[in-house]
Amino acid sequence: MGQKAGLRLTRHIVLVGMMGAGKTAVGSETARRLGVSFIDSDAAIEAAAAMTISEIFARDGETFFRDRETQVLSRILHGPPGVVSTGGGAWMRPENRALIREYGLAVWIDCDLETLWQRVRQRPTRPLLQTPDPKGTLATLIQTRSPVYAKADLVFQSRAGDTVEAASTRMIDMIQTSRPDICERTAR
Ligand code: S3P
Repeated sequence: MGQKAGLRLTRHIVLVGMMGAGKTAVGSETARRLGVSFIDSDAAIEAAAAMTISEIFARDGETFFRDRETQVLSRILHGPPGVVSTGGGAWMRPENRALIREYGLAVWIDCDLETLWQRVRQRPTRPLLQTPDPKGTLATLIQTRSPVYAKADLVFQSRAGDTVEAASTRMIDMIQTSRPDICERTAR
């Protein structure tokens, strides 16, 4: 997909963080505004496997899924720079972090438990939350993963009242302010 005149991404903007943090919603809006492509790594895995994430977990298990995730992420990151949203566990693998650091700017969308829970509770699409106490599982995942997410290049604080548009505006401002090398203005 072409980029907007006068703006060029020098590397991918890669959104990491918990399921329900808004990576896909904010990521696709951000890509639209920047005039670059948007790829959701979960959707790319599903397309490549012609199966849903739940079906992959059920049939082949989590390790198989994680290996596919690394393959797909590598393929995406070797492509032209755009906005990429990753599955919540992707950033946990050191191999994936190394790939993302090489080709992208990692932005952690940090979001509180209650907000995440309100967003994920209705959806049966997350295999890791198919437990007797899904909210407790979510809380444990946040606790164990947050120190690793915190290794991202930038931390974007999700705000409960934010619309997708407002969050995207804040994210673009944050990136342009703290990493002006990522979105380069080009001569028209
Ligand atoms: C997962 C998050 C999901 C998906 C899979 C595993 C995780 O993606 O990759 O269910 O380990 O947190 P989202 O973060 O897009 O829901």
